[in-house]
Amino acid sequence: MPVLAGEALRLLAPRSGKTYVDATLGAGGHAREILETSAPDGVVVGCDRDPAALALAREELAEFGDRVVFVHSRISELPDKLAELETIPVQGILVDLGLSSMQVDDPDRGFAFSRPGPIDMRMDPSDGPTALELIRESGTDELTAILRDYGEERFAPRVAKALSEAARAGRLGTTRDLAEVVRSAIPAKAARHQSIHPATRTFQALRIAVNRELEELDAFLAAFPDLLAPGGRMVAISFHSLEDRRVKRRLRELAWSSSLPPAYAEAAGERIHPICRTLTSKPKTPAPAEVRQNPRARSAKLRACEKL
Ligand SMILES: C[S@@+](CC[C@H](N)C(=O)[O-])C[C@H]1O[C@@H](n2cnc3c(N)ncnc32)[C@H](O)[C@@H]1O
Repeated sequence: MPVLAGEALRLLAPRSGKTYVDATLGAGGHAREILETSAPDGVVVGCDRDPAALALAREELAEFGDRVVFVHSRISELPDKLAELETIPVQGILVDLGLSSMQVDDPDRGFAFSRPGPIDMRMDPSDGPTALELIRESGTDELTAILRDYGEERFAPRVAKALSEAARAGRLGTTRDLAEVVRSAIPAKAARHQSIHPATRTFQALRIAVNRELEELDAFLAAFPDLLAPGGRMVAISFHSLEDRRVKRRLRELAWSSSLPPAYAEAAGERIHPICRTLTSKPKTPAPAEVRQNPRARSAKLRACEKL
């Protein structure tokens, strides 16, 4: 079952005859729900930056025929890709950020350290440097900033130094080596008090940097209102505070209108009318039963808005 499926569907409110974008298609779980609810002729444009996810979704959604259009796209490229398809404006857009289970569970993708794999971490294996290349090519200061800003790693300078040295010495062969270097750079006393593996934060930070995840999200958040028809909705599911904070800030900005009288507001260069209304005053989170069934859902937060 896709994360927060009930809430996502209720807020997206798919209808027959309309077009929806699933911007992060994954295995197509949410897309299937949208297609079933918008039967008989709702259309889903399903996008993903990972060609393997698109191939899987193609199989999973085969029964819907030409009601699904598959597009290899990053969320930052949506305006161009949708313009090429001549589908702007659409009635709804869903983004379910982060990684799919398929990506995390495949050791060859390098996202996890439970089993050894190449230090890759690219969601699109044809796009940009791998995590190992990033470690090799970044200076220790740059690496420290990545671990601190994207992983909130308290011992970022020590971990960055250890990683740079290990990469130079050729000791970073697999994700297991990476996890071990991180573990040995963190003081044992501090590691004992942590409930997660000491390398978890470093893996998150490297993954965010390799895939430029926050830049991607910022570009999407800037552009999505122009892709929606009036009354169209955007639903965003995020998995850590760096993402949720951005979504929350952008929805607040779009719902904002000046408190000045219109003539003064215009003179001050302020917007008079809000662009969207927020549909979730507080983020929706999964019920304990969903988290029990799918532990990866535990940090999910859903926010949504409607274009005015
Ligand atoms: C959590 S999964 C989506 C799961 C999907 N909703 C489902 O029900 O199966 C996230 C997917 O988004 C893709 N993704 C993450 N960031 C992306 C981006 N910036 N642009 C396009 N796809 C992205 C990943 O490759 C992954 O397949």
